[in-house]
Amino acid sequence: MEQTKRFPKDFLFGGATAANQIEGAYKEGGKGLSIADMMPVGKDRFTIMRRDDFNWDLSEADYFFPNRKAIDFYHTYREDIKLFAEMGFKCYRMSIAWSRIFPRGDEKEPNKEGMEFYHNVFDECLKHGIEPVVTISHYEIPLAIVKEYGGWKNKVVIDLFCKFADVVLTNFSDKVKYWMTFNEINSAYHFPPIGQGISFLEAKEDMTVLMQSFHNQFVASSYAVKRAHEIRKDSQVGCMVLYAPMYSYDSHPENQLAILKLNQEFNQFCADVQVTGKYPYYTKAMFKQMGIDKLDITDEELNVLKENTVDYVGFSYYMSTTKSVTNKELELITGNILAGAKNPFLEVSEWGWEIDPIGLRIACNQLYDRYEKPLFIAENGLGAADILTEDLSVEDDYRIDYLKKHLCAIYEAIEDGVKIMGYTAWGCIDLVSASTGEMSKRYGMIYVDLNDQLEGTGKRYKKKSFNWYSQVIKTAGENILN
Ligand code: BG6
Repeated sequence: MEQTKRFPKDFLFGGATAANQIEGAYKEGGKGLSIADMMPVGKDRFTIMRRDDFNWDLSEADYFFPNRKAIDFYHTYREDIKLFAEMGFKCYRMSIAWSRIFPRGDEKEPNKEGMEFYHNVFDECLKHGIEPVVTISHYEIPLAIVKEYGGWKNKVVIDLFCKFADVVLTNFSDKVKYWMTFNEINSAYHFPPIGQGISFLEAKEDMTVLMQSFHNQFVASSYAVKRAHEIRKDSQVGCMVLYAPMYSYDSHPENQLAILKLNQEFNQFCADVQVTGKYPYYTKAMFKQMGIDKLDITDEELNVLKENTVDYVGFSYYMSTTKSVTNKELELITGNILAGAKNPFLEVSEWGWEIDPIGLRIACNQLYDRYEKPLFIAENGLGAADILTEDLSVEDDYRIDYLKKHLCAIYEAIEDGVKIMGYTAWGCIDLVSASTGEMSKRYGMIYVDLNDQLEGTGKRYKKKSFNWYSQVIKTAGENILN
Protein backbone atom coordinates (compact mmCIF):
# COMPACT_ATOMS: atom_id res chain seq x y z
CA MET A 1 0.00 0.00 0.00
CA GLU A 2 1.26 3.47 -0.91
CA GLN A 3 2.27 5.55 2.10
CA THR A 4 0.66 8.92 2.63
CA LYS A 5 3.09 11.60 1.54
CA ARG A 6 3.82 14.46 3.91
CA PHE A 7 6.65 16.79 4.87
CA PRO A 8 8.85 15.83 7.83
CA LYS A 9 7.36 16.56 11.25
CA ASP A 10 9.87 19.26 12.17
CA PHE A 11 9.78 21.01 8.77
CA LEU A 12 9.66 24.77 9.35
CA PHE A 13 6.84 26.14 7.20
CA GLY A 14 6.45 29.89 7.30
CA GLY A 15 6.76 33.19 5.51
CA ALA A 16 9.49 35.76 4.91
CA THR A 17 9.83 39.52 4.85
CA ALA A 18 12.58 42.14 5.25
CA ALA A 19 12.49 45.11 7.61
CA ASN A 20 13.02 47.75 4.92
CA GLN A 21 10.14 46.40 2.83
CA ILE A 22 7.55 46.34 5.62
CA GLU A 23 8.35 48.47 8.66
CA GLY A 24 8.06 52.05 7.39
CA ALA A 25 8.29 54.50 10.31
CA TYR A 26 11.62 55.52 8.84
CA LYS A 27 12.13 58.38 11.24
CA GLU A 28 10.39 56.96 14.28
CA GLY A 29 11.86 55.35 17.36
CA GLY A 30 15.26 56.91 16.78
CA LYS A 31 15.83 55.17 13.46
CA GLY A 32 18.44 56.61 11.10
CA LEU A 33 18.25 56.67 7.31
CA SER A 34 19.20 53.53 5.43
CA ILE A 35 19.95 53.12 1.75
CA ALA A 36 16.51 51.57 1.30
CA ASP A 37 14.96 54.88 2.38
CA MET A 38 16.66 56.50 -0.61
CA MET A 39 15.39 54.14 -3.32
CA PRO A 40 12.69 55.46 -5.65
CA VAL A 41 9.50 53.71 -6.72
CA GLY A 42 9.02 52.41 -10.27
CA LYS A 43 10.05 49.84 -12.83
CA ASP A 44 13.13 51.95 -13.57
CA ARG A 45 14.31 51.84 -9.92
CA PHE A 46 17.36 49.67 -10.64
CA THR A 47 18.04 51.48 -13.95
CA ILE A 48 18.30 54.75 -12.01
CA MET A 49 20.59 53.08 -9.48
CA ARG A 50 22.84 51.81 -12.29
CA ARG A 51 23.58 55.37 -13.49
CA ASP A 52 27.16 56.54 -13.12
CA ASP A 53 26.12 59.57 -11.09
CA PHE A 54 23.80 57.73 -8.69
CA ASN A 55 24.79 58.64 -5.14
CA TRP A 56 21.79 57.96 -2.87
CA ASP A 57 20.74 61.60 -2.95
CA LEU A 58 17.62 61.74 -5.11
CA SER A 59 15.31 64.45 -3.89
CA GLU A 60 11.80 64.16 -2.54
CA ALA A 61 10.74 66.84 -4.99
CA ASP A 62 11.43 64.48 -7.90
CA TYR A 63 10.94 61.01 -6.48
CA PHE A 64 8.75 59.01 -4.14
CA PHE A 65 10.49 56.69 -1.67
CA PRO A 66 8.12 53.84 -0.81
CA ASN A 67 10.26 52.01 1.75
CA ARG A 68 9.96 54.98 4.11
CA LYS A 69 6.31 54.19 4.70
CA ALA A 70 5.98 50.60 3.46
CA ILE A 71 3.11 48.67 5.09
CA ASP A 72 3.68 50.24 8.50
CA PHE A 73 4.58 46.94 10.20
CA TYR A 74 6.31 49.04 12.85
CA HIS A 75 2.84 49.83 14.17
CA THR A 76 0.87 46.81 12.98
CA TYR A 77 3.22 43.95 13.89
CA ARG A 78 0.88 42.53 16.52
CA GLU A 79 -2.05 42.12 14.14
CA ASP A 80 0.20 40.94 11.31
CA ILE A 81 1.90 38.26 13.40
CA LYS A 82 -1.52 37.18 14.63
CA LEU A 83 -2.49 36.57 11.01
CA PHE A 84 0.71 34.58 10.46
CA ALA A 85 -0.23 32.50 13.49
CA GLU A 86 -3.71 31.96 12.07
CA MET A 87 -2.05 30.56 8.94
CA GLY A 88 -0.19 28.17 11.23
CA PHE A 89 3.33 29.49 10.62
CA LYS A 90 5.96 27.44 12.40
CA CYS A 91 8.53 30.13 11.69
CA TYR A 92 8.77 33.70 10.45
CA ARG A 93 11.83 34.91 8.56
CA MET A 94 12.37 38.61 9.12
CA SER A 95 15.29 41.02 9.34
CA ILE A 96 16.56 43.65 11.72
CA ALA A 97 16.98 47.15 10.33
CA TRP A 98 20.61 48.02 11.12
CA SER A 99 19.74 51.74 11.18
CA ARG A 100 17.07 51.12 13.86
CA ILE A 101 19.78 49.72 16.16
CA PHE A 102 22.66 51.95 15.08
CA PRO A 103 21.09 54.93 13.27
CA ARG A 104 24.34 55.94 11.54
CA GLY A 105 26.14 52.66 12.03
CA ASP A 106 29.07 54.05 14.01
CA GLU A 107 27.51 54.96 17.38
CA LYS A 108 28.96 53.54 20.57
CA GLU A 109 25.65 52.50 22.08
CA PRO A 110 22.63 50.90 20.40
CA ASN A 111 19.35 52.77 20.13
CA LYS A 112 17.19 51.56 23.03
CA GLU A 113 13.88 52.11 21.26
CA GLY A 114 15.03 50.03 18.31
CA MET A 115 16.09 47.20 20.60
CA GLU A 116 12.75 47.35 22.37
CA PHE A 117 10.87 47.13 19.10
CA TYR A 118 12.55 43.86 18.11
CA HIS A 119 12.15 42.44 21.62
CA ASN A 120 8.43 43.08 21.20
CA VAL A 121 8.32 41.51 17.75
CA PHE A 122 10.14 38.37 18.92
CA ASP A 123 7.93 38.13 22.02
CA GLU A 124 4.89 38.36 19.82
CA CYS A 125 6.16 35.55 17.58
CA LEU A 126 7.02 33.33 20.53
CA LYS A 127 3.65 33.99 22.13
CA HIS A 128 2.10 32.40 19.05
CA GLY A 129 4.59 29.54 18.91
CA ILE A 130 6.34 31.00 15.86
CA GLU A 131 10.10 30.54 15.66
CA PRO A 132 11.82 33.72 14.42
CA VAL A 133 14.43 33.20 11.68
CA VAL A 134 16.40 36.42 11.56
CA THR A 135 18.52 37.90 8.78
CA ILE A 136 21.01 40.30 10.30
CA SER A 137 21.42 42.41 7.17
CA HIS A 138 18.87 42.54 4.36
CA TYR A 139 19.59 45.30 1.81
CA GLU A 140 19.44 48.19 4.28
CA ILE A 141 22.89 49.46 5.19
CA PRO A 142 22.75 52.70 7.22
CA LEU A 143 23.14 55.57 4.78
CA ALA A 144 26.07 57.08 6.70
CA ILE A 145 28.06 53.88 6.28
CA VAL A 146 27.68 54.18 2.53
CA LYS A 147 28.07 57.95 2.17
CA GLU A 148 30.83 58.50 4.72
CA TYR A 149 32.64 55.16 4.87
CA GLY A 150 32.16 54.06 1.26
CA GLY A 151 30.24 50.85 1.99
CA TRP A 152 31.63 47.34 2.35
CA LYS A 153 34.89 47.96 0.48
CA ASN A 154 36.10 49.76 3.62
CA LYS A 155 37.44 47.40 6.27
CA VAL A 156 36.18 49.69 9.03
CA VAL A 157 32.70 48.49 8.08
CA ILE A 158 33.66 44.99 9.26
CA ASP A 159 34.05 46.40 12.77
CA LEU A 160 30.83 48.39 12.53
CA PHE A 161 28.90 45.31 11.44
CA CYS A 162 30.54 43.13 14.11
CA LYS A 163 29.40 45.59 16.74
CA PHE A 164 25.87 45.50 15.36
CA ALA A 165 25.88 41.69 15.13
CA ASP A 166 27.31 41.43 18.61
CA VAL A 167 24.56 43.62 20.06
CA VAL A 168 21.70 41.77 18.39
CA LEU A 169 23.12 38.31 19.08
CA THR A 170 23.85 39.11 22.72
CA ASN A 171 20.43 40.60 23.35
CA PHE A 172 18.14 38.44 21.26
CA SER A 173 19.70 34.98 21.31
CA ASP A 174 17.46 33.77 24.11
CA LYS A 175 14.54 34.46 21.77
CA VAL A 176 16.14 33.62 18.44
CA LYS A 177 17.85 30.37 17.54
CA TYR A 178 17.95 30.64 13.73
CA TRP A 179 19.99 33.36 12.01
CA MET A 180 21.19 34.26 8.52
CA THR A 181 24.00 36.76 8.12
CA PHE A 182 23.66 38.60 4.77
CA ASN A 183 20.63 38.34 2.54
CA GLU A 184 21.49 37.08 -0.96
CA ILE A 185 25.14 37.94 -0.41
CA ASN A 186 26.07 36.96 -3.98
CA SER A 187 23.52 39.33 -5.53
CA ALA A 188 26.17 42.06 -5.37
CA TYR A 189 27.94 40.30 -8.22
CA HIS A 190 25.18 41.60 -10.52
CA PHE A 191 23.85 44.47 -8.42
CA PRO A 192 26.34 45.81 -5.84
CA PRO A 193 24.56 48.93 -4.47
CA ILE A 194 22.02 47.25 -2.20
CA GLY A 195 24.13 44.41 -0.81
CA GLN A 196 27.48 46.17 -0.52
CA GLY A 197 26.68 49.87 -0.70
CA ILE A 198 29.11 50.36 -3.56
CA SER A 199 28.17 51.93 -6.85
CA PHE A 200 27.98 50.32 -10.25
CA LEU A 201 30.65 52.68 -11.50
CA GLU A 202 33.15 51.61 -8.83
CA ALA A 203 32.49 47.93 -9.48
CA LYS A 204 32.58 48.43 -13.25
CA GLU A 205 35.88 50.28 -13.19
CA ASP A 206 37.62 47.86 -10.90
CA MET A 207 36.33 44.43 -9.88
CA THR A 208 38.78 44.56 -6.98
CA VAL A 209 36.30 46.80 -5.16
CA LEU A 210 33.52 44.23 -5.54
CA MET A 211 35.63 41.27 -4.49
CA GLN A 212 37.25 43.13 -1.58
CA SER A 213 33.75 43.96 -0.36
CA PHE A 214 32.83 40.28 -0.57
CA HIS A 215 35.89 39.36 1.43
CA ASN A 216 35.05 41.93 4.09
CA GLN A 217 31.51 40.56 4.30
CA PHE A 218 32.79 36.97 4.60
CA VAL A 219 34.95 37.98 7.56
CA ALA A 220 32.06 39.86 9.20
CA SER A 221 29.71 36.93 8.60
CA SER A 222 32.18 34.47 10.18
CA TYR A 223 32.49 36.73 13.18
CA ALA A 224 28.70 36.66 13.60
CA VAL A 225 28.75 32.85 13.36
CA LYS A 226 31.43 32.76 16.05
CA ARG A 227 29.54 35.06 18.41
CA ALA A 228 26.22 33.29 17.89
CA HIS A 229 27.78 29.96 18.86
CA GLU A 230 29.54 31.47 21.87
CA ILE A 231 26.36 33.09 23.13
CA ARG A 232 24.03 30.16 22.51
CA LYS A 233 25.47 26.74 21.76
CA ASP A 234 22.53 25.48 19.73
CA SER A 235 22.31 28.60 17.54
CA GLN A 236 21.95 27.80 13.87
CA VAL A 237 23.52 30.35 11.57
CA GLY A 238 23.20 30.15 7.83
CA CYS A 239 24.55 31.95 4.82
CA MET A 240 21.93 33.13 2.35
CA VAL A 241 22.50 33.14 -1.40
CA LEU A 242 20.41 33.95 -4.42
CA TYR A 243 20.51 30.62 -6.22
CA ALA A 244 19.54 30.27 -9.86
CA PRO A 245 20.42 26.96 -11.51
CA MET A 246 22.10 27.66 -14.85
CA TYR A 247 21.11 25.79 -17.96
CA SER A 248 23.13 25.75 -21.12
CA TYR A 249 20.96 26.71 -24.08
CA ASP A 250 22.36 23.78 -26.03
CA SER A 251 24.94 21.03 -25.81
CA HIS A 252 27.77 23.02 -27.40
CA PRO A 253 30.86 22.34 -25.23
CA GLU A 254 31.73 26.02 -25.23
CA ASN A 255 28.38 26.78 -23.63
CA GLN A 256 28.84 23.97 -21.12
CA LEU A 257 32.21 25.40 -20.15
CA ALA A 258 30.80 28.93 -19.89
CA ILE A 259 28.04 27.62 -17.60
CA LEU A 260 30.60 25.96 -15.38
CA LYS A 261 32.50 29.23 -14.95
CA LEU A 262 29.47 31.49 -14.58
CA ASN A 263 28.05 29.12 -12.03
CA GLN A 264 31.25 29.30 -9.99
CA GLU A 265 31.28 33.10 -10.12
CA PHE A 266 27.66 33.69 -9.27
CA ASN A 267 26.04 30.70 -7.58
CA GLN A 268 28.97 29.07 -5.83
CA PHE A 269 31.73 31.48 -4.86
CA CYS A 270 30.15 33.11 -1.77
CA ALA A 271 28.62 29.92 -0.38
CA ASP A 272 31.86 28.04 -1.09
CA VAL A 273 33.73 30.41 1.22
CA GLN A 274 31.03 30.60 3.87
CA VAL A 275 30.40 26.86 4.00
CA THR A 276 33.91 25.47 3.60
CA GLY A 277 35.79 28.30 5.34
CA LYS A 278 38.28 28.76 2.55
CA TYR A 279 38.62 30.29 -0.89
CA PRO A 280 37.82 27.66 -3.54
CA TYR A 281 40.40 26.26 -5.96
CA TYR A 282 39.19 28.39 -8.88
CA THR A 283 39.61 31.72 -7.04
CA LYS A 284 43.01 32.60 -8.50
CA ALA A 285 41.93 31.92 -12.08
CA MET A 286 38.66 33.80 -11.54
CA PHE A 287 40.41 36.84 -10.09
CA LYS A 288 42.92 36.82 -12.94
CA GLN A 289 40.13 36.79 -15.46
CA MET A 290 38.49 39.70 -13.57
CA GLY A 291 41.74 41.67 -13.75
CA ILE A 292 42.25 41.49 -10.00
CA ASP A 293 45.81 41.53 -8.88
CA LYS A 294 45.50 41.19 -5.15
CA LEU A 295 43.03 41.69 -2.31
CA ASP A 296 43.77 42.89 1.18
CA ILE A 297 43.41 39.62 3.08
CA THR A 298 45.22 38.88 6.33
CA ASP A 299 46.14 35.49 7.79
CA GLU A 300 44.07 36.32 10.85
CA GLU A 301 41.03 36.88 8.65
CA LEU A 302 41.61 33.61 6.81
CA ASN A 303 41.66 31.92 10.17
CA VAL A 304 38.36 33.48 11.21
CA LEU A 305 36.82 32.16 7.97
CA LYS A 306 38.23 28.71 8.56
CA GLU A 307 37.10 28.42 12.16
CA ASN A 308 33.57 29.73 11.75
CA THR A 309 31.69 28.14 8.92
CA VAL A 310 27.91 28.29 8.65
CA ASP A 311 25.56 25.60 9.99
CA TYR A 312 23.20 25.54 7.05
CA VAL A 313 22.71 26.96 3.58
CA GLY A 314 19.85 29.41 3.19
CA PHE A 315 18.86 30.42 -0.31
CA SER A 316 16.22 32.21 -2.29
CA TYR A 317 14.82 30.58 -5.38
CA TYR A 318 12.67 32.35 -7.91
CA MET A 319 13.93 31.13 -11.27
CA SER A 320 16.57 29.33 -13.25
CA THR A 321 18.61 31.06 -15.94
CA THR A 322 19.64 29.90 -19.40
CA LYS A 323 22.88 30.92 -21.08
CA SER A 324 24.57 30.75 -24.44
CA VAL A 325 27.89 32.29 -25.42
CA THR A 326 27.88 30.91 -28.93
CA ASN A 327 24.58 32.28 -30.14
CA LYS A 328 24.18 36.04 -29.90
CA GLU A 329 20.85 36.09 -31.73
CA LEU A 330 18.75 34.49 -29.00
CA GLU A 331 15.82 36.29 -27.46
CA LEU A 332 16.92 37.63 -24.07
CA ILE A 333 15.02 37.72 -20.82
CA THR A 334 15.65 39.46 -17.51
CA GLY A 335 14.33 38.89 -14.01
CA ASN A 336 15.57 39.08 -10.44
CA ILE A 337 18.83 40.86 -11.40
CA LEU A 338 19.59 38.03 -13.82
CA ALA A 339 19.73 38.13 -17.58
CA GLY A 340 19.88 35.22 -19.96
CA ALA A 341 18.42 33.58 -23.03
CA LYS A 342 14.69 32.97 -23.00
CA ASN A 343 14.04 29.34 -22.12
CA PRO A 344 11.43 28.08 -24.65
CA PHE A 345 10.11 25.53 -22.15
CA LEU A 346 9.18 27.99 -19.42
CA GLU A 347 6.35 30.41 -18.82
CA VAL A 348 6.94 33.81 -17.28
CA SER A 349 5.27 35.83 -14.51
CA GLU A 350 3.59 39.17 -15.19
CA TRP A 351 6.95 40.76 -14.33
CA GLY A 352 8.77 38.54 -16.82
CA TRP A 353 10.44 36.19 -14.31
CA GLU A 354 10.64 32.64 -15.62
CA ILE A 355 8.69 30.04 -13.64
CA ASP A 356 10.52 26.76 -13.12
CA PRO A 357 9.51 24.49 -10.21
CA ILE A 358 11.77 21.66 -11.42
CA GLY A 359 14.65 24.14 -11.17
CA LEU A 360 14.04 24.26 -7.43
CA ARG A 361 14.47 20.48 -7.12
CA ILE A 362 17.66 20.83 -9.16
CA ALA A 363 18.86 23.70 -6.93
CA CYS A 364 18.28 21.64 -3.79
CA ASN A 365 20.19 18.69 -5.19
CA GLN A 366 23.05 20.81 -6.49
CA LEU A 367 23.50 22.65 -3.19
CA TYR A 368 23.25 19.53 -1.05
CA ASP A 369 25.54 17.59 -3.34
CA ARG A 370 28.15 20.33 -3.04
CA TYR A 371 27.92 21.21 0.66
CA GLU A 372 26.17 18.36 2.47
CA LYS A 373 24.70 20.89 4.86
CA PRO A 374 20.98 21.26 5.61
CA LEU A 375 19.21 23.71 3.32
CA PHE A 376 16.70 26.42 4.17
CA ILE A 377 14.55 27.78 1.35
CA ALA A 378 14.38 31.32 2.65
CA GLU A 379 12.47 32.87 -0.24
CA ASN A 380 10.24 31.75 -3.07
CA GLY A 381 7.03 33.15 -4.46
CA LEU A 382 5.11 34.74 -7.29
CA GLY A 383 4.88 38.51 -7.74
CA ALA A 384 1.50 39.23 -9.32
CA ALA A 385 -0.96 42.10 -9.74
CA ASP A 386 -3.77 40.91 -7.48
CA ILE A 387 -7.26 42.32 -7.61
CA LEU A 388 -9.27 42.81 -4.46
CA THR A 389 -12.79 41.49 -5.08
CA GLU A 390 -15.99 43.12 -3.85
CA ASP A 391 -16.21 40.66 -0.99
CA LEU A 392 -12.70 41.74 0.05
CA SER A 393 -10.67 38.72 -0.96
CA VAL A 394 -8.30 37.85 -3.82
CA GLU A 395 -8.87 34.83 -6.05
CA ASP A 396 -5.18 34.08 -6.42
CA ASP A 397 -5.37 30.57 -7.87
CA TYR A 398 -2.26 31.40 -9.95
CA ARG A 399 -0.28 31.89 -6.70
CA ILE A 400 -1.66 28.67 -5.22
CA ASP A 401 -0.63 26.85 -8.39
CA TYR A 402 2.87 28.37 -8.25
CA LEU A 403 3.43 27.58 -4.58
CA LYS A 404 1.98 24.10 -4.89
CA LYS A 405 4.32 23.19 -7.75
CA HIS A 406 7.35 24.55 -5.88
CA LEU A 407 6.42 22.79 -2.64
CA CYS A 408 5.97 19.52 -4.54
CA ALA A 409 9.44 20.04 -6.05
CA ILE A 410 10.84 20.49 -2.54
CA TYR A 411 9.15 17.32 -1.43
CA GLU A 412 10.72 15.48 -4.37
CA ALA A 413 14.12 16.87 -3.37
CA ILE A 414 13.59 15.56 0.14
CA GLU A 415 12.74 12.19 -1.39
CA ASP A 416 15.97 12.48 -3.41
CA GLY A 417 17.74 12.53 -0.05
CA VAL A 418 18.30 16.26 0.42
CA LYS A 419 18.02 17.58 4.00
CA ILE A 420 15.76 20.62 4.03
CA MET A 421 14.99 22.47 7.26
CA GLY A 422 12.23 24.76 6.14
CA TYR A 423 10.49 26.92 3.60
CA THR A 424 9.45 30.54 4.03
CA ALA A 425 7.22 31.91 1.28
CA TRP A 426 8.45 35.34 0.26
CA GLY A 427 6.35 38.37 1.08
CA CYS A 428 3.73 36.37 2.95
CA ILE A 429 2.08 39.72 3.52
CA ASP A 430 2.14 42.18 0.57
CA LEU A 431 5.17 44.46 0.80
CA VAL A 432 7.27 46.92 -1.18
CA SER A 433 9.10 45.17 -4.03
CA ALA A 434 12.89 45.27 -3.83
CA SER A 435 13.52 45.66 -7.55
CA THR A 436 10.75 48.11 -8.42
CA GLY A 437 9.51 49.59 -5.16
CA GLU A 438 5.99 48.78 -6.27
CA MET A 439 3.26 47.61 -3.90
CA SER A 440 1.35 46.31 -6.91
CA LYS A 441 3.89 43.52 -7.38
CA ARG A 442 2.30 41.38 -4.69
CA TYR A 443 3.56 38.11 -3.25
CA GLY A 444 1.40 37.82 -0.16
CA MET A 445 -1.27 35.55 1.14
CA ILE A 446 -2.42 38.65 2.98
CA TYR A 447 -3.51 41.58 0.83
CA VAL A 448 -2.54 45.06 2.01
CA ASP A 449 -4.74 47.85 0.71
CA LEU A 450 -2.08 50.28 -0.50
CA ASN A 451 -1.11 51.36 -4.01
CA ASP A 452 2.33 52.20 -5.42
CA GLN A 453 2.16 55.67 -3.89
CA LEU A 454 1.31 54.00 -0.58
CA GLU A 455 -2.19 55.47 -0.70
CA GLY A 456 -5.06 53.43 0.70
CA THR A 457 -6.49 52.21 3.96
CA GLY A 458 -3.56 49.86 4.70
CA LYS A 459 -6.13 47.29 5.82
CA ARG A 460 -5.22 43.61 5.64
CA TYR A 461 -7.42 41.05 3.82
CA LYS A 462 -7.00 37.30 3.52
CA LYS A 463 -6.49 36.04 -0.01
CA LYS A 464 -7.66 32.61 -1.19
CA SER A 465 -4.03 31.44 -0.77
CA PHE A 466 -4.26 32.27 2.94
CA ASN A 467 -6.65 29.38 3.64
CA TRP A 468 -4.87 27.14 1.18
CA TYR A 469 -1.44 27.66 2.79
CA SER A 470 -2.86 27.17 6.27
CA GLN A 471 -4.16 23.76 5.09
CA VAL A 472 -0.74 22.91 3.67
CA ILE A 473 0.86 23.64 7.02
CA LYS A 474 -1.87 21.96 9.03
CA THR A 475 -1.63 18.73 7.03
CA ALA A 476 2.16 18.90 6.55
CA GLY A 477 1.51 18.99 2.84
CA GLU A 478 -0.80 15.97 2.70
CA ASN A 479 -3.41 18.04 0.89
CA ILE A 480 -1.10 18.82 -2.01
CA LEU A 481 1.14 15.77 -2.18
CA ASN A 482 -1.39 12.94 -2.35
C1 BG6 B 1 14.88 38.75 -3.28
C2 BG6 B 1 15.09 39.71 -2.15
O1 BG6 B 1 15.81 39.00 -4.27
O2 BG6 B 1 13.72 38.80 -4.01
C3 BG6 B 1 13.82 40.36 -1.61
O3 BG6 B 1 15.78 39.12 -1.09
C4 BG6 B 1 12.91 40.68 -2.78
O4 BG6 B 1 14.17 41.47 -0.85
C5 BG6 B 1 12.54 39.38 -3.48
O5 BG6 B 1 11.79 41.42 -2.45
C6 BG6 B 1 11.56 39.53 -4.61
O6 BG6 B 1 12.02 40.49 -5.51
P1 BG6 B 1 11.13 41.72 -5.96
O7 BG6 B 1 12.04 42.57 -6.74
O8 BG6 B 1 10.04 41.14 -6.76
O9 BG6 B 1 10.67 42.37 -4.71
